[in-house]
Order: sequence, then C-alpha cells, then structure tokens
Amino acid sequence: MEKEKIYIIGIESSCDDTSAAVLCNDKILSNVVADQKIHAEYGGVVPELASRAHQQNIVPVVDQALKKANINKEQLSAIAFTRGPGLMGSLLVGTSFAKSLAYGLDIPLIDVNHMQAHILAHFIEEENYSKPPFPFLAMTISGGHTQIVKVTDHFNMQVLGETIDDAVGEAYDKSGKVLGLGYPAGPEIDRRAQLGNPKAYKFTKPKVDGLNFSFSGLKTAILYFVQRETKANPNFVKENLNDICASIQYTIIGILMDKLKLAVKQTGIKHIAIGGGVSANSGIRKALKDAEHKFGWTTYIPKFEYTTDNAAMIAIVGYLKYLKKDFSDFDVMATARLKI
Ligand code: KG4
Ligand code: ZN
Repeated sequence: MEKEKIYIIGIESSCDDTSAAVLCNDKILSNVVADQKIHAEYGGVVPELASRAHQQNIVPVVDQALKKANINKEQLSAIAFTRGPGLMGSLLVGTSFAKSLAYGLDIPLIDVNHMQAHILAHFIEEENYSKPPFPFLAMTISGGHTQIVKVTDHFNMQVLGETIDDAVGEAYDKSGKVLGLGYPAGPEIDRRAQLGNPKAYKFTKPKVDGLNFSFSGLKTAILYFVQRETKANPNFVKENLNDICASIQYTIIGILMDKLKLAVKQTGIKHIAIGGGVSANSGIRKALKDAEHKFGWTTYIPKFEYTTDNAAMIAIVGYLKYLKKDFSDFDVMATARLKI
C-alpha cells in the first residue's frame, strides 16, 4: 500500500526573514525565503521595520510556497509556525497568520521552537545525506544564539552550554561594523578570511568555564585593536582587511572548536551536527571535516539553504510533531524567550 502523504506548510517569521515551505512527509517541495534588505541601512535588524515587512511579505511568500509545491491549500494536513524565540512583533505576524489559516481550513496547528528547528533541519530527507543518529551533539550558531545541545531524541534535548553574552553571529556582525563592512558581515568576513593570513594578528580567546561561551570581550578587543592601529596608520584597515578578517575568523573558529572538543570529552558522543546562520561559514565547515580524520568524529553539516533562517526547518518539526499528534491549541501565544 502506498504511504499516506502528509503535506505540512511551515511558516517562519522570528527575525528578519519571512519564509514559507511545503513538505510532503519529510521531503521538501518548496522553501521560499524573502529577506529584508531594509535593515542593512541601519547596521542591524530594526524590530519595528521587521514586523512591518513581514506583514507585507507573508501572503505572497505563502502563496509562492504553495505554487512551487504544486499543491492547493485544501491539500494541507497541518500548519506549523515559529512560536519563538525571536522578536515579538515579527513572531506575532507568523503566529496570527498560521492560526487564521489553520482555523479557516479546519486543520491542526503546530507550534515550533525555532532553536529546535535549527537542529531538526538535519532530518529533512535529502539525497546523499545521512541523518545524525541519537544521541548526537548539536551546536547552534546564529545571530541570536550559540548553544551546544545534547540531542537524545527528536524532542529530548538538553542545553549543555550557551553564550553568556553575545551570540557568535553578533561577534561577526559587530566586528564587521568596526571594520566598516555592511550588515550582516558574517559572509563578507568569511569570504575575505579565505584570502588572508589567519595568524597575522592574535586576539586572546575568552576564558569561560565549562561549555559556556562569551564573545563580548573579543568584540571589544577588536575595536581597541582597530582604533590603536588606525591611529598609527589611517589606512590600516583598508590595507590589511583580508588578514584582519582571517585572524578574527581563526579566533572565533578556535573558540567554537575548543568547546566542541570539551563537549565530546565530557559526553563521549562523537556525532556532531551544526545549525544556524554561522554554520554556512567555510572555516567551521573545514574545521569539522578535519576533526573527522583527527579525532574520529562524524559530522553533519546542513545544506546551505537550511543554515540561515528558513521555513523548511519549521515544516520538518511540524511533520515530526504531526506523527505524534502533538498539536497546539488556538490560544497558543508567540513567545519571545522560549527555551529548547
Ligand atoms: O540563523 P540566522 O539566519 O538568523 C538568526 O537566527 O540569527 O543567522 C544569521 C547570522 C548573522 O549574524 C550572519 O552574519 C551569520 O549568521 N552568517 C555567517 C555566515 N553566513 C551567515 N557568519 C559567518 N560566516 C558565514 N558564512
Ligand atoms: Zn535562526
């Protein structure tokens, strides 16, 4: 007998990307993302502008996701949406839209934790991609979060360590601002890092106990370093930009890898997955591949389109919850601070 086809639409609006994706069981049929260029002018996400842009984007994005998937809304089995964590005004747009759609179609509503979704994106069915076996360690590295999580089951996750101040993506973006780069600066620093000398300048790594992270000291160290060098040579940044980027990236990847090594030592788990915007970074991808040979780890690196915020990851969590009949009540609320 042919397997029943479950169609889930995922809706993501937690920060500055409006996204909708349709899955048939665990396979992606469409994943549409509208990013918001407006924030680049301000050097960071402006919450009020983000929620307004979500309002404009949500209907066309959902419409496109359905068209690309080649299904109509009556075929949907359930609506999954990001409940949190994220910016309240942004979350409210996706939450209200998802509720109305589920109510109108009289189908189940499924709330999704954005951080769980970054991890469970690894369970989207892809050719030539094997899913991580339980238990595994997941490091979520994004503009809002930096965590190491022990994943025992799809919905059994334990945070082993997290940042006590800035997220790693913020470290990239704020360093980029000091260097006069646009927002978000992560991709540009990454691109330039590959052209520079990673040992040209040395930045001290923060000393934080256990598996927690700290990035605010590094940001300040970079600011003082650039101010000092620019005083001596006003063209310092311009003349040495690739080397500066390479040195920043070398330090950040060193911090992430040190903590991962400690997490492996403490747990004995050698299956390592990454997720979140910074997992698009070439430095962390290479460091993980090297660790396979060096330390015998098996690493799981998501496809590029599932690294930064996207609704495919929300839809896969929706599917996994649908199988358990784990549905939400219509009085479920968007929640800016939501733990894993
Ligand atoms: O997951 P994401 O799209 O949004 C949040 O939930 O925060 O992550 C965005 C972050 C930004 O800080 C951006 O600079 C960073 O991911 N990022 C990168 C790269 N691509 C995106 N950081 C370093 N290297 C990259 N290639
Ligand atoms: Zn994210």
